[in-house]
Amino acid sequence: MGKSKDKPAALGGAPVFVQTVQTPEFPKLDNWKQVTDEEAQVAYDMTLRNELSGGTPVVREFEKEWREKLGVKYAITVMNGTAALYSAFFGLGVGPGDEVICPAYTWICTISPVIFMGARPVFCESDPESMMADPEDIRRRITDKTAAIVVVHLWGNVCDMDPIMEISRETGIPVVEDCSHAHGAMYKGRHCGTIGHAGCWSLQGSKPVSAGESGIIATDDTEVFERACLVGQVNRMKGMDLVTEKYAKYQPLGTGMKFRAHPVGVGIAQVQMRKLKGLNDRRSKYVSEVEAGLKDIPGVKPVKVYEGAVRGGFYGFPIIHIPEEQNGLFTSTFVEALRKEGLPAHLSGYPLLHTLPIFAEGFDLYTRNRGPLCGDYPGYNKGDFPVSEKMVEKLVFLPVLSDPVPDAVDRVLEAIRKVASYADQLVDAE
Ligand SMILES: Cc1ncc(COP(=O)(O)O)c(C=O)c1O
Repeated sequence: MGKSKDKPAALGGAPVFVQTVQTPEFPKLDNWKQVTDEEAQVAYDMTLRNELSGGTPVVREFEKEWREKLGVKYAITVMNGTAALYSAFFGLGVGPGDEVICPAYTWICTISPVIFMGARPVFCESDPESMMADPEDIRRRITDKTAAIVVVHLWGNVCDMDPIMEISRETGIPVVEDCSHAHGAMYKGRHCGTIGHAGCWSLQGSKPVSAGESGIIATDDTEVFERACLVGQVNRMKGMDLVTEKYAKYQPLGTGMKFRAHPVGVGIAQVQMRKLKGLNDRRSKYVSEVEAGLKDIPGVKPVKVYEGAVRGGFYGFPIIHIPEEQNGLFTSTFVEALRKEGLPAHLSGYPLLHTLPIFAEGFDLYTRNRGPLCGDYPGYNKGDFPVSEKMVEKLVFLPVLSDPVPDAVDRVLEAIRKVASYADQLVDAE
């Protein structure tokens, strides 16, 4: 690849994207608005109907649509994705002394619920090409205390579910799928979230299906469903919770914990869900076009997508930086130069979980030296997950565009190409 005609802005040239008064920091690349009049109208109508609490008709309808879309027996809305994960782990009977395997590279809420059940997180490596949990490393970390495995379809990419479910079949350890970044993603013809024993989604404000704040859990497992109802669904209308007699005497109060979703949020999410296919089609087209263009640019490559996976949600758009192909240019310098071109790229914002003080040093969760993260808790050190540690340093996040302005793909690629072609001079300036 020859040098681009113009120098990068980081070396004193003109940026690819010209800033305007309307977009003082970065130029407008996307025409998409997450919420529109449609969502506002639903919120207005529901408020006037005083449909503001409990398992209302809209909540029931949304759960039914979710069940039908995914082809699962049960779906329950909850107040956020964290509560969905809490419900799933509680549903699976995770408890004191247990261990739950989770990738070190994910958002903390994937695993945080288990510590409140007295269980310990056991972190695993991710495949550096896909960023998804590495099945072989999951296998290595199984002990006789492993009560569950949670995998995450991070940034809309899809875990290699066949080997993960094979481990589950061999060992009897159940699998939770955290789909908070991957609404609408599929694996070998099946919806993500329906392959493991429970699927959990965040419907938080920036998610591909947003309620503002809410979450949902789906499962085919009656025991998981009934226990999830016990932990979070006080006083639901008859017929919306238990299906067997096992926990009947505890209802309608259950355990008295309450994770119920706000119905207005669910109403908003219902509108968003109906727009999901269009959103995914547009995001997928943009991401694929940019990824195709990366092939001619040294020092950058798309993340790996497993055979049979169809990405969805696209909560983030990571690509992999290869400094060795750019004269050893630091990834941080590369990102900074892209930003100077007016392209809002950034490094990975997620800390690896084993480096957080709570998990690295342990934490006296219940005070007086009690809880799963103290006593003989071994803790973690930097260096314990060399593959993931190296992987996150090389991730560069490009903007996710949902309704790109004309030429957005060309200009995104132009910025990357220009910076890559001047890598030698950028290294000299480092
Ligand atoms: C991977 C992942 N899991 C779980 C959650 C928790 O979702 P919530 O914020 O709705 O509780 C998030 C939130 O961003 C997430 O990114």
